[in-house]
Amino acid sequence: MDGVIVDTAKFHFKAWQRLADSLSIPFTEEQNEQLKGVSRVDSLEKILQWGNLELNNQKKLELMELKNKWYLEYVEEVNPSDMLPGTFQFLNELKNAGIKIGLGSSSKNSILILKKLGIIDFFDTIVDGNIIHMSKPHPEVFLKGAKDLGVEPSETVVFEDAISGVQAAKAGGFHCIGIGDSNILNLADLVVKSLEDVKVETLHQF
Ligand code: G1P
Repeated sequence: MDGVIVDTAKFHFKAWQRLADSLSIPFTEEQNEQLKGVSRVDSLEKILQWGNLELNNQKKLELMELKNKWYLEYVEEVNPSDMLPGTFQFLNELKNAGIKIGLGSSSKNSILILKKLGIIDFFDTIVDGNIIHMSKPHPEVFLKGAKDLGVEPSETVVFEDAISGVQAAKAGGFHCIGIGDSNILNLADLVVKSLEDVKVETLHQF
């Protein structure tokens, strides 16, 4: 979801950066690539590790709540115009072609965001951070999604903007189209700039 269908990855970055700043931990855009697709708790652990900071569980919970509070403030105004190029058209095309659609996200905010975008009804299943136990790069999120849809990984295409997500898709035996930079998402079977560059026929090559 974040960074594939909606431009919310920038708000996660902004909120994590604010949190890192508050802890005096340097945090770059390159480091942020490693947080994409990674659960809230695992993202925090990585930042603390980069800062060589050890905190107790209570403090970690407070920091995660703070980051999420800031993130929710940033996404307050999110609306259908924040969908990334081609998203609405591609979802429609898939629906018309009778192709099942699942959401596989590490975020616990996925339902809120999908409602803000007005596209929640497109999804035949939603598997997110509230349901899964193991964050990407573990394939659980996609395996659960495929099971819900009644399809095999080998007949499913995963769309991912995150390194951890591409790794998860490939580890689960899925085909994977990367959205973004082919130098970063080099494990994907195909990399495109946005969903604007994908058609139903693109899926038939797999
Ligand atoms: C979580 C993480 C964030 C990560 C995102 C991926 O979102 O906080 O670092 O990039 O998943 O979708 P949250 O549950 O906080 O919305």
